[in-house]
Amino acid sequence: MTTIDMVSSMRSVRNTQLGRVLAELSDTEIAALLADGEPLGIGIGGSTARVQLDGELVFVKQIPLTPVERADVRSTAHRSGLPMACHYGIGSPGFGAGRELAAHELTSRWVHDEESDIFPLLLHSRPLDRPCRTDTSEFEGLTPQQQWGEGWPRVVQRVDALRDAESSMTLFLEYLPETLGAWLRRQFAAGAHTGGAAFADALEQIIDASVWMRAHGLRHLDLHPGNILVDRERLLFTDFGLTMHESFDLDREERAFFDLHAEYDHDTGVTSLLHWTLAELGAGNRARRTALVNSTAKYGMSEELERLCAPLEGAAHLVVEHAQTAAVITEMFELLIRDASATSYDMITAERERGAEPSGQ
Ligand SMILES: Nc1ncnc2c1ncn2[C@@H]1O[C@H](COP(=O)(O)OP(=O)(O)OP(=O)(O)O)[C@@H](O)[C@H]1O
Ligand SMILES: [Mg+2]
Repeated sequence: MTTIDMVSSMRSVRNTQLGRVLAELSDTEIAALLADGEPLGIGIGGSTARVQLDGELVFVKQIPLTPVERADVRSTAHRSGLPMACHYGIGSPGFGAGRELAAHELTSRWVHDEESDIFPLLLHSRPLDRPCRTDTSEFEGLTPQQQWGEGWPRVVQRVDALRDAESSMTLFLEYLPETLGAWLRRQFAAGAHTGGAAFADALEQIIDASVWMRAHGLRHLDLHPGNILVDRERLLFTDFGLTMHESFDLDREERAFFDLHAEYDHDTGVTSLLHWTLAELGAGNRARRTALVNSTAKYGMSEELERLCAPLEGAAHLVVEHAQTAAVITEMFELLIRDASATSYDMITAERERGAEPSGQ
């Protein structure tokens, strides 16, 4: 057994033990554990916290369960007629706890079976007849209404249902506090050589993971440095709030969406890493960064990019290599943020294949 095998097998055993401890707790004991937890975040998809269990920290995610979802918590169907663009991370109320749970169960099984080591482990899940905190404020005001246009009534119906939900699904996950964003920041601070190598390594792991997930029928659909954790320099992919798997109960339109988005994780994962890195290196202004990505896609390396990416040393050429993908995906999201029906991944990539340039160049 190699050291890596030993570490992953210990990881599996320890987390299975913690899972057993959680499974033996009553709903009241689980509620008491949650009450003692330290809140971390709150959003449309519920709230996150960390709790202490057996002397160890455990990450907790509580997701609202609407009455339909509560009636069948393992269902991966979703028939609320939300616009297809809700499958994109553009301020979406999401497709339900059943899918998020199923994706964690699936990915954790792959880790336990040693088919993969790129996901955090789910220790335990528990539906509870008590609400969880949600923050639906991003759906207030006129802007989201204008963004969703004709789809707005469905979106608002779903947002209301999530806010009013009286039950919740609690997911307990192994505690891995460092996101890719935080890890990269630490590597950049350690000096040019370390930062450049870390960027190249992260890019490679994201591309490898997107290939692996695609081959295993998984579309993550929300890959960005805040949804990627780092454990001993290995990237672990989490937050399955928008994730689809081929085994899910998808309707016809969703099945077509699934098929058309085979390359989406690759393209959006690479794009979000590029944006995050350029912002971290000094291009914090979004408009300036987008202009830089577009001009790099068209003309390649420039003095401005060379100056900005000096801390990446030899890895700077990777920004040029992936700039065309980033330009197309950036344009897609710029359009979708203003009007969720303006385009789609398949439309915009088909345009790219026909040779049309992203606007703004
Ligand atoms: N297993 C984990 N251990 C420790 N921290 C984690 C873990 N998983 C996620 N986090 C942290 O919690 C944050 C929120 O988790 P997640 O992305 O799953 O939820 P979310 O609904 O997208 O919330 P947000 O909108 O804040 O991103 C992550 O960005 C990360 O910083
Ligand atoms: Mg997230």
